[in-house]
Amino acid sequence: MNQSAYYRNKVIWITGASSGIGENLAQQLASYGAYLILSSRNQSKLEGLKATLFNSEAHLVLPLDLCAIENTSIYTDKIIAKYGRLDILINNGGVSQRASANDTNMEVNRQLMEVNFFGNIALAKAVLPIFRAQNSGQFLVVSSIAGKFGFHLRSIYSASKAALVGYYESLAMEEAPNGINVTLAFPGKINTPISKSALTGSGHAHGAMDHNQATGMPVEECVRLMLLALSQRKREVLIGGKELLAVFLKRFFPRLFWKLIPKQPAT
Ligand SMILES: NC(=O)c1ccc[n+]([C@@H]2O[C@H](COP(=O)([O-])OP(=O)(O)OC[C@H]3O[C@@H](n4cnc5c(N)ncnc54)[C@H](OP(=O)(O)O)[C@@H]3O)[C@@H](O)[C@H]2O)c1
Repeated sequence: MNQSAYYRNKVIWITGASSGIGENLAQQLASYGAYLILSSRNQSKLEGLKATLFNSEAHLVLPLDLCAIENTSIYTDKIIAKYGRLDILINNGGVSQRASANDTNMEVNRQLMEVNFFGNIALAKAVLPIFRAQNSGQFLVVSSIAGKFGFHLRSIYSASKAALVGYYESLAMEEAPNGINVTLAFPGKINTPISKSALTGSGHAHGAMDHNQATGMPVEECVRLMLLALSQRKREVLIGGKELLAVFLKRFFPRLFWKLIPKQPAT
């Protein structure tokens, strides 16, 4: 089945839809005829995006802060009231880090875990009863190459992305008999503004477009590969350029990995 046919008429909730990968996911999925729920903190950006999407009126803007997810039924009730079902949750929203472990305040460590891990899994738990009742549902979880190994200035970011792997691999095993699938995506360097909002050790925005980001894979290509893996129900997909070699080096040539990786620039 081609991409367009797979996603046509599917109801898909995307977090982090106001920028970068999430914004492009919304654009590609809308063009395939999916019905989208668009979430992030910035309501006006989400409304602006919705207005530009194919079949604009079919989509729903649902602002939320992943740091403050409490009563999840306020979200799921709205989704079910409008569409009657949910086919896919794309847990993509996240924030990065640009500070050493030594320089990162505990408050910032907790904030990053809240956004990248606890907020993320809170939404998974909110939709599981819907997926179970339908006997179908898919999760696309955006981890990172930093979830495969630690790296300079990414201690808590890397920890949050690795935590997603353990959580969702377990969930996938438990929920397979209920018709529920999980695809874990591990992007490398992708050309989005993520480095601008990355947190410093004191919780301020790093504010710079890093060289690694600016020279990364175009976001359209990253999203195309993510959606292909999701439509093929792959368990995991690595997306990026030559930086992905590090994952294979770590597995098969760990001594070489530990020699080369510390020399790679972190920005
Ligand atoms: N770009 C890369 O090289 C790369 C590599 C590996 C993994 N990733 C992962 O890919 C995902 C998307 O990143 P991106 O590159 O597209 O970055 P981005 O352009 O900075 O987008 C991040 C998105 O997350 C949302 N977000 C941040 N904090 C939030 C919060 N507290 N509550 C709700 N939404 C929040 C932002 O929306 P608001 O500000 O409107 O809330 C924005 O829509 C992230 O999980 C990131 O870790 C990216």
